Amino acid sequence: MLPFKRSIAHVIACAAASRWPHAGLTDETILEMLEYPPDDGMGDLALPCFKLSRTLRAAPPSIAAALAEALGDLSAADVSAAGGYLNFRMSRAYLTDHVLASIEARDERYGAGESGAGKTVVLDYSSPNVCKPFHIGHLGTTVIGHSLKLIHEFLGYRCVGVNYLGDWGTQFGKQIVAFKRWGDRETVEAGGCDELVRLYVKFHEEAEKDPALEDEARAEFHKLETGDEENYALWKWFVDVSLAEYQKTYRQLDIKFDYYLGESFAVDKVPAQVDRLRDLGLLKIDDGASIVDLTEYNMPPCLILKKDGSTIYHARDIATAVYRKNTYDFDLAIYVTSAQQSLHFAQLFKVLELMGYDWHDKLVHVPYGTVSVDGAKLATRTGNVVLLKDLFRLSIEKVREIMEVKNPNLADKDGVAEAVGVGAIIFYYLYNSRIKDINFTLEQALSFEGSTGPYAQYTYARTCSILEKAGGVPEEGTVQLTAPEESALLVVLSKFPEKVQTAAAQYEPSVITRYIIEVCTAFNRFYQNCPILSAEDAAVRAARVRLTRAAGIVLRNALHLICLKTPEKI
Ligand code: ARG
Repeated sequence: MLPFKRSIAHVIACAAASRWPHAGLTDETILEMLEYPPDDGMGDLALPCFKLSRTLRAAPPSIAAALAEALGDLSAADVSAAGGYLNFRMSRAYLTDHVLASIEARDERYGAGESGAGKTVVLDYSSPNVCKPFHIGHLGTTVIGHSLKLIHEFLGYRCVGVNYLGDWGTQFGKQIVAFKRWGDRETVEAGGCDELVRLYVKFHEEAEKDPALEDEARAEFHKLETGDEENYALWKWFVDVSLAEYQKTYRQLDIKFDYYLGESFAVDKVPAQVDRLRDLGLLKIDDGASIVDLTEYNMPPCLILKKDGSTIYHARDIATAVYRKNTYDFDLAIYVTSAQQSLHFAQLFKVLELMGYDWHDKLVHVPYGTVSVDGAKLATRTGNVVLLKDLFRLSIEKVREIMEVKNPNLADKDGVAEAVGVGAIIFYYLYNSRIKDINFTLEQALSFEGSTGPYAQYTYARTCSILEKAGGVPEEGTVQLTAPEESALLVVLSKFPEKVQTAAAQYEPSVITRYIIEVCTAFNRFYQNCPILSAEDAAVRAARVRLTRAAGIVLRNALHLICLKTPEKI
């Protein structure tokens, strides 16, 4: 089945060709011109004819009128010309026989597509720096990244999710010195990243007084790089301790990575790339360090190796990109990080281009803005950093309190409180376009009213409870729509497949989040105005139960795409 917009574009192009055979108006040209009217009183789709005026040498209103006449009666839509616009309203037959029927038939695949079939996307996301706790700044890369993975999978892409842990660099020399001097195993086992940070901070305090510590750290890092067993074991253990902590958060978010391949994995792949840079004459020595000069492209130089020959962030990223291309043969590689790293990626992509890698244009950086949080409660021992686990815990506790009042007899209160508490934070975060800076207010995120996760999950649970009370969904049959709210709901549900495509094309999960609210609003309007279980006419009741199920299917599919769970009872 063709989506509504595409089939309308096609019939318009045919009508235009019969009327103006030499104008060369194709489906694609028309598709680009079609708009969703801001006010649905005007129809569900509109073609503004103003731009056609010059090509067709006619006034917009007469173009609209001529097209309406040439189109005649369509089964999919009622057509009308109004001023310079050609308006289309989905016909009731289309809404029931196409929209509703395809939601029912495709069920958990409704909204999915095949545009990614045979293509591979590598997604680099979350990627925290080990020995540091998982803080609110990681929320963006983690949930945007995972949501983009789910969206691409839904469109048929093979997706490879990689957690590119920041697990290499000179800071490990400092961490090793600090541990050897002031740390002990038990305290680190018990305290995890908090304790590792404490040691790291202590290193810097002590190094202020005794700069020789810096040399000691360099020596320890050099030992680590050259395979010293003791230091390697320590480093490995730091990574494991950190990972165990991150995995608790990933479990709450229901995120699994296909690979944990961090920066350390890239180190032995760097020399081959450095050789290539040198052979191409791209490498310059600047004050002892090896760099690629990017002045010509208005960017600062890209640092490759330090004076002492050790690798830097950029070098490891170059080697990693090549490894990923060779290993997964991607059609698209997405990096999700804060906008602060935009320059890093611009430089990286440029250097890969200069190195002659023709796949450099398949690399995409997806940046996002900063997050801040209200409420001193969330400040931690490690300074002003808000830890994600603390935010989750607080949110889950609050939901638990609300539930105790709202629905004290609910089964699996803990499970539901976690799904709603964590979901509220994700939803609130993914509601804004990713590039905007946001300020977090837990009160707002947790509200059951407004554009929130709890409201969306609650609306889904409402569809489930109606279906349960209905005692099953009626067999397929003719569906009668009697109220405007029913048609309006179906029109909204019909847009889901296009929203999924837009979200992928713009790397923007908020397209789905906002759409979910549109569905909730349309469903709740329907629910308030159209009696479902108490409808007198059996056919009307049957149609409404089916509509309820369809709304539930779309809400569930959409919520899953933005990493939210969908409890059936809240
Ligand atoms: N570890 C980095 C950080 O926490 C993010 C890594 C992003 N991915 C990459 N390939 N550079 O800032």
